[in-house]
Amino acid sequence: MLPRNVPRRGSIVFTKLVGDFIKPHWGVGRRSFFTSRSASFPQTASDHERGDDEYANVDWDNLGFRLTATDYMYIMKCSQDDEFSQGQLSRYGNIELSPSAGVLNYGQGLFEGLKAYRKVNGSGLLVFRPEENARRMQIGADRMCMPAPSVDQFVDAVKQTVLANKRWIPPPGKGSLYVRPLLLGSGPVLGLAPASEYTFLVYAAPVGNYFKEGLEPINLIVEDETFRASPGGTGGVKTITNYAPVLKAQLQAKKKGFTDILFLDSEDKKYLEEASSCNIFILKNGVLSTPSTRGTILAGITRGSIIEIARDLGYQVEERLVSVEELFDAEEVFTTGTAVVVAPVSSITYRGQRYKYNCGGDAVSRRLYKALVAIQIGQVEDKKGWTAEMD
Ligand SMILES: Cc1ncc(COP(=O)(O)O)c(C=O)c1O
Repeated sequence: MLPRNVPRRGSIVFTKLVGDFIKPHWGVGRRSFFTSRSASFPQTASDHERGDDEYANVDWDNLGFRLTATDYMYIMKCSQDDEFSQGQLSRYGNIELSPSAGVLNYGQGLFEGLKAYRKVNGSGLLVFRPEENARRMQIGADRMCMPAPSVDQFVDAVKQTVLANKRWIPPPGKGSLYVRPLLLGSGPVLGLAPASEYTFLVYAAPVGNYFKEGLEPINLIVEDETFRASPGGTGGVKTITNYAPVLKAQLQAKKKGFTDILFLDSEDKKYLEEASSCNIFILKNGVLSTPSTRGTILAGITRGSIIEIARDLGYQVEERLVSVEELFDAEEVFTTGTAVVVAPVSSITYRGQRYKYNCGGDAVSRRLYKALVAIQIGQVEDKKGWTAEMD
């Protein structure tokens, strides 16, 4: 048998760690598997170096939104026309792919993003609405001709990944563990067709604030030359192919000092869609409005949660076409997303004109942010059943 870091014929080796699977004790149940971690997980040099501390050695006060490699990832595979069955945790590391993998050649891939928190009161971990991400991945998989894990499989994989990387979850108030599930066409394919094999993978990284502004208000610019999505396209699903095309406009905007771009619809070029990785809301005359999901924007889980929270707090919320001109006299604008949570927008620039919004302590966006975060970190009772709790 070849040593692990020697390339096998026909594969690109991106890895030193392929095949280093951790075999969970399936028979004894999830809880006892993880509570007997030291018995179940192989001891490595790094285990000894780091000891078995509750927290990894991370500067928790300076977490940005960047990759910090953690200990474990979860992998599950299935062939085309088959169903995913049992997956496994493995050491976090690179993966091996055929040069003709569907994902590399034709972009057959999806990703998700969700967060796990340490409960602010007492012990325990909370994952926010993992079933919603599972369902969204299923919708995306159908669009991209891929088999998807069941909701239970998805949620179980997320929980396993979170528990296995528990020491990387920031202390309460310092950030969260960002969990990134992927669904990839990993099998080889030459002519354009669905791949022959699929890989579902979950990894995680501790994160702080998404924008460099931290919790400070952000500045957007309306992009009216590049379009993110078009009717009949894939804007409404979280396919990997939606993101690289955004980079050029995003980098140009950042060079000019803006935090992010705000996209318009590609047909009329006048209706708000979303920012590069978050949804948008405006407040006018006490009414909150957000663009309706018509297949060209992502139905954000944070967007849905904020709509519900806002209605519970007595605000009127409309999901409809929102014209760019409504930005001219809006009182507030804010964006929502797993990574950004709720980010107040200080200004939006459109055709050289800068429009400013209320981001003060009295802003509705701040109220909504606090209400959402309180549920996410277990500060208030979760009456909606949105959080999945683990020990
Ligand atoms: C394009 C886009 N819009 C909106 C969102 C916000 O979605 P969510 O609230 O589910 O994170 C994301 C992030 O996933 C995104 O990539």
